[in-house]
Parts: sequence; C-alpha cells; structure tokens
Amino acid sequence: MSRGAFILLEGCDRTGKSTQAQMLVDRLTQLGHRAILWKFPDRTTGIGHMINGYLAKHQDLNDQAIHLLFSANRWEAVEQLANHLRSGTHLVVDRYAYSGVAFSAAKGLDLEWCKQPDVGLLKPDLTFFLDMPIQASMQRGGFGEERYEKEELQTRVRDLFLKLREPDWKVVDATETIDQIHEKLTKAAQETIQTVASRELQYGLW
Ligand code: TYD
Ligand code: MG
Repeated sequence: MSRGAFILLEGCDRTGKSTQAQMLVDRLTQLGHRAILWKFPDRTTGIGHMINGYLAKHQDLNDQAIHLLFSANRWEAVEQLANHLRSGTHLVVDRYAYSGVAFSAAKGLDLEWCKQPDVGLLKPDLTFFLDMPIQASMQRGGFGEERYEKEELQTRVRDLFLKLREPDWKVVDATETIDQIHEKLTKAAQETIQTVASRELQYGLW
C-alpha cells in the first residue's frame, strides 16, 4: 500500500498558509485522496492550552520554556502523524519546526540551541514557503492581535526562514492571487504524492 505525503506550509503570519492549507486538503479530497489538515501549534492539547495562553498574552513564559512547549506540541503528535502517513492519508501541515526555530531565534535565542529539541522529528516530503514583504502582510486583516505580530519581529522571522531554507523548498510568491497559489501548490503536491508513495517515512529532521 502506498503511504501518504507530508506536505508542509511555512511562512510569516498573514501570508495565507491556513487558507491555502484548507484549500489543498479540499482539492486533494476531491481528487479522490485521503487528506487531512494538521495545524501547529495544536491549541487543543494540554500543552497547546499553555501555548495559547502565552500567545494570547494571558500568561508569561521565558523564551526557552515556550520554545520547548512548541517543540513538545509537535512531539506529542508524532505517532498520530506517522500513523496517518502509513495508512495512506496525506497530511497538509500548517507550520512546523521551521516556525519553531525562526520565531524563537528572532527573539534572540541561539539558532543551534533552538534546533535541538526538534532533532529526529518526522521530515516533510514537500515544504512550501509562502513569502511576501512584511509591509504587505501587515496590511492584511487580523494582524497585530497576538504576540509576535509586530513588524520588526516578523522581519527577523522572515530572514531566519530564509536562512533555514532547504534546497528542496518551494518558495511561493504569497502576493499572487489565492487561485494562482492554489494551482501551484496542487501541482507540486500531486507530484510529491506520486514520488513518495513507495518510500519509507522520513525521520531525522533536520
Ligand atoms: P499561527 O499559525 O499564526 O496560529 P493562528 O493561525 O491560530 O493565529 O501560530 C501562532 C504563532 O505561534 C505564530 O505567530 C507563530 C508562532 N509559532 C512559534 O513561535 N513557534 C512554533 O513552533 C510555532 C508552530 C508557531
Ligand atoms: Mg497567527
């Protein structure tokens, strides 16, 4: 039986990741695949509640502690993610360890230190980086309510994403129309679904 593909969307806040992730899941489903959306942080778990309290500014935590909680929020999901992939379900994942490192390092933590807790996690088969100028993303609705939604920090986050960028990432111009981006993502996702079908799951991030 063929395994599912791990498809990741990364990028700064308000670049359209969640919209595109949902559209991609719907499209793959229409095409006859089994596909589910997975979002990090997963705010529904115990650890996720602590992360939510921090992001909504109800609770303060030091930078190291919140970094480790974000990582733990991925580790607590790893068996479920692997089971879905093994059973042939594609995962469209909205943020992952690259966000984890980019945001924490943007606050001043050492980059190599930030990478350590996620070492050994499942590796995405396909990563899209939705990229656009921070000025433009800030003009989109809903920006500025949560911690991290500030221009200076987002600019550093973007630079860090570009530093973490792997050779096989697909950098997508997030200022294009929703439909244009959706078509690009669908095409690349279909190719990846084909190529990974008979491959072993990939652990060993980074
Ligand atoms: P976000 O995807 O923006 O959630 P929502 O769509 O519910 O607003 O994620 C919330 C914030 O968390 C975002 O600013 C990025 C940050 N973040 C980290 O700092 N570390 C991480 O590991 C992850 C996954 C996200
Ligand atoms: Mg957000």
